[in-house]
Amino acid sequence: MKTIGVLTSGGDAPGMNAAIRAVVRAGIYNNLKVIGIERGYDGLINGKIKEMDLSSVADIIHRGGTILKTARCEEFKTEEGRKKALNVLNVFGIDGLVVIGGDGSFMGAQKLSQSGIQTIGIPGTIDNDLGYTDYTIGFDTAINTVLESISKLRDTSTSHGRANVIEVMGRHCGDIALYTGLAGGAESIIVPEVDFETGDVCEKLIRGKTRGKLHSIIMLAEGIGNAFELGKEIEGKTGIETKVTVLGHIQRGGNPTAFDRVFASKMGARAVELLLDGKSGRALGIHNNKIIDIDIHEALSKKKRFDEDMYRLAKILSI
Ligand code: F6P
Repeated sequence: MKTIGVLTSGGDAPGMNAAIRAVVRAGIYNNLKVIGIERGYDGLINGKIKEMDLSSVADIIHRGGTILKTARCEEFKTEEGRKKALNVLNVFGIDGLVVIGGDGSFMGAQKLSQSGIQTIGIPGTIDNDLGYTDYTIGFDTAINTVLESISKLRDTSTSHGRANVIEVMGRHCGDIALYTGLAGGAESIIVPEVDFETGDVCEKLIRGKTRGKLHSIIMLAEGIGNAFELGKEIEGKTGIETKVTVLGHIQRGGNPTAFDRVFASKMGARAVELLLDGKSGRALGIHNNKIIDIDIHEALSKKKRFDEDMYRLAKILSI
């Protein structure tokens, strides 16, 4: 193996830069030529590549986003698109590829691996929605960003005696709402994994108000109805003024936490080791505090387990 490539794909996540840096530096340390591919699979198809040197990844470990830029690429899902990508890989002599992204990006990595390109996946998404790994790069930063907002909303809500519905990201996964709900002391956590009744949410708010509580937080994972309609319904049923905040893309930015930087650095370096060992079609992750790698097909087929215990605990503590 002489030349490896690295790309980021799908939604960006804080910590992706630390992973890129680790791939580039570990690659160069091992006398490999490292190529950066811009805008994910789209850049691969269109030959948007540049050679990376040590200084090309200087001053990025602490930055959110991805210096390689990212995209969601429909063309790569087609046979034709993948042919173009394989051609670019051949032309530039790239024999190993590190793909940093979520499940969609891993599916692409799996296809490339099946076509004979040594490919390793690094999980990068704020959603924490991959079943085989305890965490994904960016999740820790995102939940800390959300927590900061919860604290700010608490200040103003307490002053006015208001309730807050706070909508967070996560696609089909409730982890962002669950973790921030527990850490932020939310009264209710509404996630796609558990059925909910607005009546129960309202009952809790009224109980809190009756015992003198001045603010209430309801964490709502995106995609479960409309946050503004829920806010209106709660206000109508409880008589408590209810404000709605949709945090949106603010959750995707910001300086990565120490956890995300360390985790991303370890996986970036391990990806290079795996390529040098001749491995392909592997997905990196973390389990019980240890960096693991498993078959990417198995990684994609592992169903994400919702942490029922944590959900139950949050319920008990917000009684
Ligand atoms: O997968 C990350 C994520 O931020 C999801 O939580 C969200 O549903 C989606 O991406 C938003 O995508 P986009 O940035 O393309 O609007």
